[in-house]
Formats: sequence, structure tokens, C-alpha cells
Amino acid sequence: MRARRRRTDSAAEPARELKRFVRAGPARDMDVSIVGAGYVGTTAAACLADAGHRVVAIDTDASVVDAINDGEAPIHEPGLDELVAAHAGDRLTATTAYAAVAGTDVTLLALPTPSAPDGAVDTSIIEAGADAVGEALAGREAPHTVAVKSTVLPGVTAARIGPRLGAAEGVHLATNPEFLREGTAVGDFTAPTRIVIGADSDRAADRLEELYAPIVEAATPEPTVLRTTLPAGMMIKYANNAFLAGKISLINDIGNICKAYGVDAYEVAEAIGLDDRIGRRFLRSGVGFGGSCFPKDLDALRHAARAADYEPTMLDATVETNDRQPERLLELLDRHVDPAGERIAVLGLAFKPGTDDVRHSRAFPVIEGLQDRGAEVVAYDPVATANARAVAPGIEYADSAAAALSGAGGAVVVTDWDEFAALDAAFDAMARPVVVDGRRIIERREGITYEGLTW
Ligand code: UGA
Repeated sequence: MRARRRRTDSAAEPARELKRFVRAGPARDMDVSIVGAGYVGTTAAACLADAGHRVVAIDTDASVVDAINDGEAPIHEPGLDELVAAHAGDRLTATTAYAAVAGTDVTLLALPTPSAPDGAVDTSIIEAGADAVGEALAGREAPHTVAVKSTVLPGVTAARIGPRLGAAEGVHLATNPEFLREGTAVGDFTAPTRIVIGADSDRAADRLEELYAPIVEAATPEPTVLRTTLPAGMMIKYANNAFLAGKISLINDIGNICKAYGVDAYEVAEAIGLDDRIGRRFLRSGVGFGGSCFPKDLDALRHAARAADYEPTMLDATVETNDRQPERLLELLDRHVDPAGERIAVLGLAFKPGTDDVRHSRAFPVIEGLQDRGAEVVAYDPVATANARAVAPGIEYADSAAAALSGAGGAVVVTDWDEFAALDAAFDAMARPVVVDGRRIIERREGITYEGLTW
């Protein structure tokens, strides 16, 4: 008898209800420009057009602009294609020309703010965008609100963005952090838990409330709109991500202890999650967090803390614990296999399921650790192989999980793609059926040596 995989409620990370509505009604009165058509910018543009506004998306990449104008989302995100297709050429247009900003009332800056090598935030891209917006607005008489949606440290908006926009001359500044997740971006944007507006004037805050009014009215439960200062708006974003990342590292710490004592960390998580001071979500222990946000934002906050002469011990520990999990996964493999000269399958390359994004994926330290042990690595991911190949070119990539497992002397699971839960006969084709699961997606079963990372 095979034990059922116990994926507890606390393990499920539900998507918000995806609003597949396309509003028919008349356009609302706002003209909005969104600078940067990446994940956040394109989602905001399509959803705000859907909410009734006239939106122009501005991006320096002509292929991104062409895609939007052709009615196609330039990124893969469930529900986004439909919204872009429904509104392109009508309430949603795209251009490479920053001059379009001048014809709008509100601008959202959604440009990338990557990490500099020392962990600081590299604001050069958003600063250049602000320069271009400032130029486009020069000479414009009507007041204009510019909200920074990108994640920048408190203080950056007033000190480095505002002056470039001509903040002294009728430009009202705001910070408006975004909390959407990759893979559920449209649902998260259209049904947010809260909308945070940090503003330097009532005018800016009022304009943003007006911008979000149709979303607030349509969402159930109604999101809370919080008004605060410019720097607090951004600190809320960093605190939010730091807290969630900290929650994952704390459950991973507990999980590692559970494993040592033969306790199932998921049972523990289910029980403690019922205490609503703790909450059930973000308690999935395993190989740790990756992605474009948690690692980057933690680095930025730790860097900012040190710049202010403060040692952020909890944040440091969050990163340290996260960095340790891939090696713990491999230590469990070492218990059953000497990876030297063995073919070892890595299942999953994306930083989480539902995306082809491999930024800071835990797969890379796992692959490196296997290579250090002299293993012959074969990896598989349903969608992220092309992106992973660019980061880790020196390994074999298989076309299916079954092909990766065939003849392998061991396997490690890094991403919780649903299809891995359905693997069955594929394990029979392994040379040595040892599976170390970093995401609790494979069932413990007869015929394979199964190790869960924290269970
Ligand atoms: C995260 C936040 O959840 C969003 O609110 C935020 O807007 C976004 O960063 C951002 O700053 O842009 P995202 O990186 O898309 O969103 O992904 P998450 O779903 O939060 O997952 C992040 C990582 O944590 C993944 O590697 C995931 O596997 C891991 N994770 C998540 C766990 O290991 N355990 C959990 O219980 C939950």
C-alpha cells in the first residue's frame, strides 16, 4: 500500500480568484502611462485598462511594444493574454516614445531595480526612466502624478527620482508597491489584499485612489487602501517580502530539526498554522525560496540596514538558512548514493511551478553541489529549460522527467510541478531508485528509497 502524499492545507498556496472578466462599460476618465512592460508593468497596464482606464504602456524594447499592440502579452502569465487581446488598440496601447507620458494624468514607474554586486539596489534603470519622463513632462502645465511601483529603498523616490521628474514643478510623487506573485499576477492585481499609497501630497494620493477605485469596488473582500508617507510605502514592501522569506526560513529551520527527530514538518506546520497568529500559508518547508524578489529584496534591506549601522540578524539568518537548504538536500542523497560518476536527475529548474523564471532558483546550487561531487547531472523542467541552459550550460537537459530518470542512480526534486506527482513507472527505469524530494511533491512509495527534506 502506497502512503498518500500528504499535501496539507498549509502547503497549498492558493491563487486568488482569476477575474476573467473583460469589462464592457464606458472608459473611466483617467489616462495612465505605465513605464516598463515587464511582469508588474504589463499586468498593471492590462488590468487597469480592463478596469476602464485608458492606458499607454511605454517600453524601450520594440518587440514588447509590438506584442502588446498586436494583442499579445509579452510575458507568460495566466489570464494576461486575454486581457491584452481584449483591450489592445482600444483602451490599451504601447509605444517606445516617452513623449506619450505627457498626454496622461498619472504615470506608474515599473522599471527593473536589480541588485548591484554588493547587494545594494541598482537604480540606474529607473533613474534613466525618470529622466525621460521628466523630459516628456517639461513645460506641461497641468499637474501630474508619478508613482514608483518598482521596489526602491525608502528615501530613493524623494532623493533620486523626484528631482529627475521635475518634482518641484507640478509633479506629485508617490510610492505604490506591488504585491503580486508570478504565476498569479492577474488575480493578485485585480483582487489585492491591500493597496498601499505612499505620497508626498493629498493630490497624489487622491489620484492613485481614483486610479484603483474600480479595482477596489470590484474585489471581494474589498481591499484596504492605506495611505502613508513616501518612504513608508516602500518600507512596507520590503518588510512584506522579508517577513514572508523569514517565515519560509523559520519553517525550514524547524523542518531540519523535525527531520533529525523523525517528525513530519508538514504535520507540524498544519498544526501551528491553525494558530491565526501564525497563519497557515508560507509554511511549506523544503529546498528554500528563489525568484527575482525575495533574495534581491533581502539583500537590499540588509545592505540598507548596515548603511544605517544596524546589524539585521534575523534577515541574515533568513538568507543563511535558505542558502543551506540545497546542501541539506544533497546530504540526504549522500546517505544513499555516492554521486561521484553517477547519473543524477534534477527534477525542476524554475524557482517555483507555473513559471519559466529561473532567477535565484534553488536548482543552481543543487546542480553545483552535484557537480562538486563529480556527478553527471541530467535536468528536466517542463518550461524553464531554455532559461536554465543559459545559466548552467554544462549539464544534460532531458525532454521529459521520464527521460531524466531513465538510468539515473538517484534523483532530487527542486520544483513542485504537479506533473512530478504523477510520475510512477518512470521510477522503475532508474538504475537506483533513490529520490530526495525538496518540495514534497512525490509520494513515498514501495520500490523507491524516498527521503523528504523535512519529513
Ligand atoms: C513574491 C511575493 O510573494 C509577492 O507578494 C511579491 O509581490 C513578489 O515576491 C515581488 O516582490 O515581486 P514571487 O517571487 O512571485 O512573489 O513568488 P512566491 O510565490 O512568493 O514564492 C517565492 C519563493 O518562495 C519560491 O521559490 C517558492 O517555492 C518559495 N516558497 C514559498 C517556499 O519555499 N515555501 C512556501 O511556503 C512558499
